[in-house]
Amino acid sequence: MFSKISGLVLVGLTLLAGCSDNSVQPTSSNAASEDISPTNQIQVGKDYHSLSNPEQVKVSHIDLDLTVDFEQKVMSGYAELTFDKKDPDATSLIVDTRDLTINSVTANGQKIDFELQKADDFLGAALEIPLPDKGNKVKINYATSPQASGVQWLTPAQTAGKKYPFLFTQAQAIHARSFIPLQDSPQVRVTYKATIRTPKELLAVMSASNDPNTERDGVYEFNMPQPIPSYLIALGVGDLHFKAMGERTGVYAEPSILDAAAAEFEDTESMLIATEKLYGPYRWDRYDLLILPPSFPFGGMENPRLSFITPTVIAGDKSLVSLIAHELAHSWSGNTVTNATWRDLWLNEGFTTYLTYRIMENVYGKDRYNQEAVLGYQSLEADVANLTGKDQILAIDLRGRDPDDVFSDIPYEKGALFLREVEQKIGRDNMDAFLMEYFQHFKFQSITTDEFLAYFKKHVVASYPDKLDMDRINQWIFQPGVPEGAPMPESDAFSIVDNARSNWLSGELHANQIDTKNWTVHQWLYFLNNMPEELSMEQLHDLDRAFNLTESHNNEIAHSWLLIAVKNWYQPAFPRLHDYLVSIGRNKLVKPLYKELSKTVEGKAIAKKAFDEAKAGYHPLTVKANQGFVE
Ligand code: BES
Ligand code: ZN
Repeated sequence: MFSKISGLVLVGLTLLAGCSDNSVQPTSSNAASEDISPTNQIQVGKDYHSLSNPEQVKVSHIDLDLTVDFEQKVMSGYAELTFDKKDPDATSLIVDTRDLTINSVTANGQKIDFELQKADDFLGAALEIPLPDKGNKVKINYATSPQASGVQWLTPAQTAGKKYPFLFTQAQAIHARSFIPLQDSPQVRVTYKATIRTPKELLAVMSASNDPNTERDGVYEFNMPQPIPSYLIALGVGDLHFKAMGERTGVYAEPSILDAAAAEFEDTESMLIATEKLYGPYRWDRYDLLILPPSFPFGGMENPRLSFITPTVIAGDKSLVSLIAHELAHSWSGNTVTNATWRDLWLNEGFTTYLTYRIMENVYGKDRYNQEAVLGYQSLEADVANLTGKDQILAIDLRGRDPDDVFSDIPYEKGALFLREVEQKIGRDNMDAFLMEYFQHFKFQSITTDEFLAYFKKHVVASYPDKLDMDRINQWIFQPGVPEGAPMPESDAFSIVDNARSNWLSGELHANQIDTKNWTVHQWLYFLNNMPEELSMEQLHDLDRAFNLTESHNNEIAHSWLLIAVKNWYQPAFPRLHDYLVSIGRNKLVKPLYKELSKTVEGKAIAKKAFDEAKAGYHPLTVKANQGFVE
């Protein structure tokens, strides 16, 4: 299937593949006016998604002091930026903002005349601050907007406890600028300190040092001493309580879900230990989880020291905990070694997906690893079949595009498959040694695909000239599709499922005659995801009667089943479908359902009803990703 697609390939792509220009030009103050036509070569390392000027003046530290006002849905206070002047001729510091009200800018206690430029549709507005005569700090007094794209404000009704409001931020990829004026580029790394002021009964937590025993007094202090990119700055505020899971691991959640979360994720400490053994020291002190309300638009977000996690993976049987392995793995691939631009996202997500499989194998065994790898591979196959060639490239050209609109399995599963191929060619021990050195070598740096390649060529390819060659590696990274002969994950546990499915489809077995007693959640997903597009009403009833799929408590199984129900217009599942869409905001789970519903007039009506009801409680990103399906 892949070879067919890689056959189409390559219109105009040599441009990218051949590009070795490492120069980084100063960012102009308006990226929107730049020549981003495909014939104009990409400047490797240039961040096309920031209007800031770190090549001239680079921010290295942020002091934040913010008051959280739930009534107004506004955070206000200041960000004091410490900067280094890189270019002696520089006259101003430029930072990114989106929908911020800038009240004043001061340096050394004096007001500075700043200029807030006209907003670009998805990049926001550049804030230009003339450099002060002395010192290397400027203080920006500002307030966020209730519509800030990186902040969700939840009413008490939208929380588990129903009593207190909740707030969380989600900065990746380019939303930090909607709650802090800063150089919002992953190649700018900052340390930060923060004071967060909240209603007294609430607790604030951040991607920084969190003291599990802090006094609940409404004023919380944080410190992040390691330099991190802006997309990893994060804040959560709510009726949060803490429960330890291990020596270095614990969970923050609302009281009613705290015990369930701590039980579901109790293997986090073992995952941490396993990852350190494979890939070197954990460099971030504690590793805690923050469980968010179900409107969190992602499965997880690797905010350092404190991953943000959707509650939709609390299944009761640890079946969906690879999400935790994934977010934990980012502590190495992503947070320690970071993509320099969003074109290089695969360095974060591909490496992390590869590490995730390895951690899962270590903690839960080879069987589980194989099953998860096959499911990952299948979802890659589906994406390759659906995306344009250009969007199947690991080092993707995102010029002129909003990174939110280009989310796919390519950087994840294709990136991981590339590393799996390297592993198979050079051997696991050598692969592990390479990765350990790689994380050590680039620690606390942001690197481009080209920097990775130069390193990889020197330290790996050169050592195995008869096993690896650069042409093939360039094909993986700069061309669409999956190269022919790529590894293909397999699982014995799925052969039984294939047999069961075909015996059932041929009518040899009724659903209740299939022996599913010992099936894993992954086997169920494989069973459902590989059903033919069309099933008869009788078949759907047979499945539902035997396995009660409409009522499944596992959100992934429910998702797969509901997708089948929509495709085949199986109406008995529609009340559940409605509940599902209005109670979950995780995009990966709801978007495919909205998309499928939008294909028919009747489906669209169902989608619209759910969307209208849910919209006020959805995160801005979930609204943006799905509203096109109901219009
Ligand atoms: N860092 C990502 C989430 C992300 C990526 C947000 C790009 C914005 C832009 C996070 O680590 C992630 O990959 N989450 C996945 C987890 C899954 C692959 C296990 C998710 O949310 O589904
Ligand atoms: Zn990730």
